[in-house]
Amino acid sequence: MSQKVWNVGIIGLGSIGDYHMSHLAKIPYTRVAAVCDINAQAVEQTGNRLNLPAAKRYTDFKQIIEDNEIDFVIAGVSNKFHAAILKHAIHCHKPIFAEKPFTRTMEEANELISLYESNPIPCMIGFSYRYRPCFQYVKQLLEQKTLGRIRHLAAHYLQEENAPMFNKEYTWRFSKEVAGSGILADIGSHMIDSARFFVGEFTQVAGMLSTFIDTRIDLRTGEPVKVDVDDFAGFQGVLDDGVMATFYTHKNAIGAGNQFQVTLFGDLGTVRVSVENPNEVHLTLREGDERELTEKVIYLDGKPMRLMLQDFVDSLTDSKSSIFPSFMDGYRNQQVLQAILDSAEDGVARRLSL
Ligand SMILES: NC(=O)c1ccc[n+]([C@@H]2O[C@H](COP(=O)([O-])OP(=O)(O)OC[C@H]3O[C@@H](n4cnc5c(N)ncnc54)[C@H](O)[C@@H]3O)[C@@H](O)[C@H]2O)c1
Repeated sequence: MSQKVWNVGIIGLGSIGDYHMSHLAKIPYTRVAAVCDINAQAVEQTGNRLNLPAAKRYTDFKQIIEDNEIDFVIAGVSNKFHAAILKHAIHCHKPIFAEKPFTRTMEEANELISLYESNPIPCMIGFSYRYRPCFQYVKQLLEQKTLGRIRHLAAHYLQEENAPMFNKEYTWRFSKEVAGSGILADIGSHMIDSARFFVGEFTQVAGMLSTFIDTRIDLRTGEPVKVDVDDFAGFQGVLDDGVMATFYTHKNAIGAGNQFQVTLFGDLGTVRVSVENPNEVHLTLREGDERELTEKVIYLDGKPMRLMLQDFVDSLTDSKSSIFPSFMDGYRNQQVLQAILDSAEDGVARRLSL
């Protein structure tokens, strides 16, 4: 019997849509069979490049989701449409890989979770760093209790593109109406996921946010537009078993490329990973009976690791892997984001029972 080829529909042909299409090319028995974007020019260009028939070029996400020849969709659009796309996928029972953050607001998230609970669909949320080799290695170390009892998780996620010297233009990421929140939802959501992935749920959180640059120029009009979201997010939390957690993120870090670092401090040692070096794990441990601490770098090059989209495709015919970022992971992440926003608003820490 011949192997089934999965026909994939791509919703959103921006930067992450491109990334997913190139990633998909590495997954056997998959092909991009339809594309969708509200930008008709982007649809035409990608449609031409992939040689897709006119009937498989969409500008309305509802239609690509309703296309019976499409086995699953990958959605990477601005945050404003995350909830509507997930809602329609649930309505049509269409498997979906959906980008983070889960939604813009808790109202959207609460509506989705009740729809999903009565009509679940195969769904992965794009918390992609779980699939970096270093993250998978640390997860195994923690399962083996190599670091002993974990006391503290520290994460920071820094980029430089929004620093004043680069004159970054106004985009949808600076609009609360479109994005929900700023840096917090954009890359802070990845830090939250790393804490949930490595340690467990948040039981308490307190946050502080700041907007560094009040207006940015909209290149379409040449006019300044008010920024109404955060440029900086700092928060701390308590995780399951009383593990303390500290986080900061912004895109004003000159010299930082994609500097997402997570350090876990346990009673027997410390481990640090950075996604810029996804095949390295920095580990400080007391080896055996020796009193000396040894700090070593473990190089993971060549070790087979799971690919995110492969994991999603496999979940369509098999059970989910243990690291699979699920619909519920998206929902829980949103609950933590909202608690941080609420805490930053009134200066009061929030308790969570997730
Ligand atoms: N997991 C990750 O590491 C990661 C990385 C980058 C982006 N993302 C997420 O992906 C999403 C998109 O980010 P991006 O950087 O690609 O943005 P982008 O602005 O580069 O691209 C978004 C695309 O979506 C299209 N679009 C907007 N609304 C649409 C709609 N209703 N229907 C169809 N198309 C629509 C736009 O025209 C644009 O082409 C965001 O939610 C972001 O958080 C995730």
